[in-house]
Amino acid sequence: MASFDISQARARFPALKQDQVYLGNAGATYKTSKASIAAYANAYEGAAKFINASLSEVCSLRSGANQICLGVSTTQLLHNLPTALQSQPGDELVLSKLNHEADTAPWARIAERLGLKVKWWSATDPQNPVCDLDELQELLSEKTRLVACPHVSNVTGTITRVKEIATLVHRYPRALLCVDGVALAPHREVDVKDIGVDFYVFSWYKVYGPHIAQLYASSRIHDQISSLGHFFKGAETLDSKLNLASASYEATQSTPAVVEYLGANPTTTWDKIVSHEGGLQRIRLDFLNSEGRITVYGERSASTELRVPVVSFTVPGTRSQRVVVEVESRSSFGFRSGPMYSYRLVDEIIGLKDVEDGVVRISMLHYNTEEEIRGLVGVLKEVINSLPGESQ
Ligand SMILES: Cc1ncc(COP(=O)(O)O)c(C=O)c1O
Repeated sequence: MASFDISQARARFPALKQDQVYLGNAGATYKTSKASIAAYANAYEGAAKFINASLSEVCSLRSGANQICLGVSTTQLLHNLPTALQSQPGDELVLSKLNHEADTAPWARIAERLGLKVKWWSATDPQNPVCDLDELQELLSEKTRLVACPHVSNVTGTITRVKEIATLVHRYPRALLCVDGVALAPHREVDVKDIGVDFYVFSWYKVYGPHIAQLYASSRIHDQISSLGHFFKGAETLDSKLNLASASYEATQSTPAVVEYLGANPTTTWDKIVSHEGGLQRIRLDFLNSEGRITVYGERSASTELRVPVVSFTVPGTRSQRVVVEVESRSSFGFRSGPMYSYRLVDEIIGLKDVEDGVVRISMLHYNTEEEIRGLVGVLKEVINSLPGESQ
């Protein structure tokens, strides 16, 4: 039998080309590397910086980023949170019907398990559903423990006034605000201190990075979060409380790169991004609003104060899926149709008969060009004109 070729094996592990001798594989093949520990801490700091979370100097664990937790997805992080958040009998949870299901299901489930009351925060206008402050005010009480809403609906693209909502929610002694920032974070600078939220979550894989997600919790309420970690582990940071093992060492390395991509003055870069995306969304909305056969959902205005470049619509009488297929058959534009995991919004508020078929959603990013969007408008025109108006 040929002997094991150790030099060939070692050649496949580039990290071995240094002085440190790795004898910690039972922990992890590379984790003992000082370089990888430092890179992981640096990634957390990049991630915290991205949303203006505080870096604590006294925190000795992993990094100073003690207000954030990284995990595989927003859905997973939002499942961990309700299990860890302390509650008491009689607590009420106010859940927006505009939520992606990721910010509804875990709260509804814990409410059912613990006998807490769910109050649904609905919306009245089926074409332009919003998280309305007056409607929220009606639902809040001394018993409110949590309000969960999106910063932007991933269907309508409309921006929620979360700063004002945070102020309103915090008038109640135990009430906390959990904001799903997944649909906003690719398009706007996020400053968790400025908006004053208690929890903020978003997915890096929509913010130009790999498939990881991030949860922030204000230090002010860390003592209200129990640790999901083993009893002998420390619970000084949000990560040590909510992250059941570690985030992906490999994937987290992207966060400093995204921060760097935004340049030395991220606010200036964001301003340019907002202005560029605003121009693109104007071209697209001008067309959609002018086309009588299309129903647009969300703000019809292209104002960047009101919306991000995520636009959904239906062509009444035609299946949304058909619109997508027709566009794809004539061009290389790629987008999707469906309820977009915002089933309650599409079903109960927008009121589509065929919820599974859902809406056509076109979402752009700053890398899209004016030429692309003008081309898209041309193809959409052609498709709409060709549709016979079949029944749904
Ligand atoms: C608004 C919104 N929230 C939550 C999620 C879920 O994110 P994840 O896939 O990271 O669980 C999505 C995913 O599309 C989303 O659009």
